[in-house]
Amino acid sequence: MHMTLYRKYRPQDFGEIAGQKEIVKTLKASLRSGKISHAYLFAGPRGLGKTTIARLIAKGVNCLAHEDITDEPCNKCDNCLAINDGTFIDMVEIDAASNRGIDEIRQIKEKINYQPTAGRKKIYIIDEAHMLTKEACNALLKTLEEPPGHVIFILATTEPDKILPTIISRCQRYDFKSVLFGEMKERLQYIAREEHIDLEEDVYDIIYESSGGGMRDAVSILERLMITCYEEKITVDRCEVILGITPTKKMSAFLEKILGKNLREAAKKLEEYWLESLEVEMFFKDFAKYCKNLMAKNELDVEEGLHIIGAIYDGLGKFKYEEDKRLVGYVITDNILNKTPKIEVREKIVEQVVEKLVPVGGSGDGGLQGDVNLSIGEIRTKWNDILNAAKKEKPTYRASLRNAKPWRVDRNVLYVAFSKDDAYSKGLMEQRDYGDPFLQIVRNKIHPGVMIHYTVAESEGAAEKNEERNYGEEIKDYFKNGEILTE
Ligand SMILES: Nc1ncnc2c1ncn2[C@@H]1O[C@H](COP(=O)(O)OP(=O)(O)O)[C@@H](O)[C@H]1O
Ligand SMILES: [Mg+2]
Ligand SMILES: [Zn+2]
Repeated sequence: MHMTLYRKYRPQDFGEIAGQKEIVKTLKASLRSGKISHAYLFAGPRGLGKTTIARLIAKGVNCLAHEDITDEPCNKCDNCLAINDGTFIDMVEIDAASNRGIDEIRQIKEKINYQPTAGRKKIYIIDEAHMLTKEACNALLKTLEEPPGHVIFILATTEPDKILPTIISRCQRYDFKSVLFGEMKERLQYIAREEHIDLEEDVYDIIYESSGGGMRDAVSILERLMITCYEEKITVDRCEVILGITPTKKMSAFLEKILGKNLREAAKKLEEYWLESLEVEMFFKDFAKYCKNLMAKNELDVEEGLHIIGAIYDGLGKFKYEEDKRLVGYVITDNILNKTPKIEVREKIVEQVVEKLVPVGGSGDGGLQGDVNLSIGEIRTKWNDILNAAKKEKPTYRASLRNAKPWRVDRNVLYVAFSKDDAYSKGLMEQRDYGDPFLQIVRNKIHPGVMIHYTVAESEGAAEKNEERNYGEEIKDYFKNGEILTE
């Protein structure tokens, strides 16, 4: 069996380090000039190269192939090989989080004055340094105040804020950063070549997203893909299944509907994905990332992309409070579409207006369009009566319909408008399971053929408007800077 990839591919020299450019540059310069510090603090999330670089310092300082300290260790001499193996006698790696670690810190004081045995300097690497006990900290502080010339301390931590300022101030501090896509890809490509892994180009994007910019996680993901796809090409499709992430194809199909400003179609897609047991919340999170990536590649207009991402993030909080995640999905979709910052394509406006005004299906079963002519006046007169019956039927209707008003009628269709800050309730009412009892009540009180179409009143007071108002003006209002082309 092969060795775990991330261990096998621990960079052996500075040239192999992905990212961390400033850190590498500075450390190489000080190794070249022989001006190294007696204490370093490496801070940053796990898997970014802290331990790796600490070992590179150990090699640079102790490599026997060079007269003096070097930034290009040979990786062949006894010292380099021992350090690569983690068996070098003058390198002590301590895990401050373990019990043994505490004892080891105590022992440092006793052993520190002995000269190194095999190399030029003794290297103490203290991992998870924020876990040091108070006692160990004090012991360490004393040593850091007056360290012997033959000792280098390298403290590594994922939580620098938990380290005593007095310790930090005695160290040269380096903050490790998540690597950039290009940097990660280059390293992964190298590993893939070495291991003869065949993978589709776009798989790198997926690994990058899933790793969150962490090199170690990226290599582990690559390994998982390699093992699962054993000797077969790693395709985007397989990769998505293996990692359990939202398929790109689904997201691009959804985006197409969004860009086409087609609310009905977008909602249909969501419904379809939901039936395939896709997790709606996860889908939108992934969709936001997907849009972000497209923006970065200039494949999606930045304004458009930010608008989509903004609408998603505004809606994410709602998932917590809603049982039926689909509803929140609809609301987010509606927010993306109905608050579009600018409408460029005139045809699209018309299309959307038509879409809005011709309720295909709606929340009833239709078929009565021609026979029924509702009166908005009658509905307004009976509205309180309707609301009271609704609250009796379902107490939560009180809240859901608080911001709703009968707006206008078109033959058998009653348009109920929600104030624009309550698109959430609109989404709720549009859900059949939730909204249908209300529809039944309206049908009982008004006419059995009533269909309800819920909408959001975009402009102030739109919910108050009645059918006498200029219809075209209202649509224009609805789309703000849109222009009516027909009429
Ligand atoms: N910057 C990097 N460049 C290349 N590989 C890296 C980098 N950071 C981490 N790795 C990979 O992850 C493994 C673990 O990295 P390590 O240095 O132990 O991370 P840390 O100490 O920051 O948690 C390495 O053996 C290597 O395979
Ligand atoms: Mg480490
Ligand atoms: Zn060497």
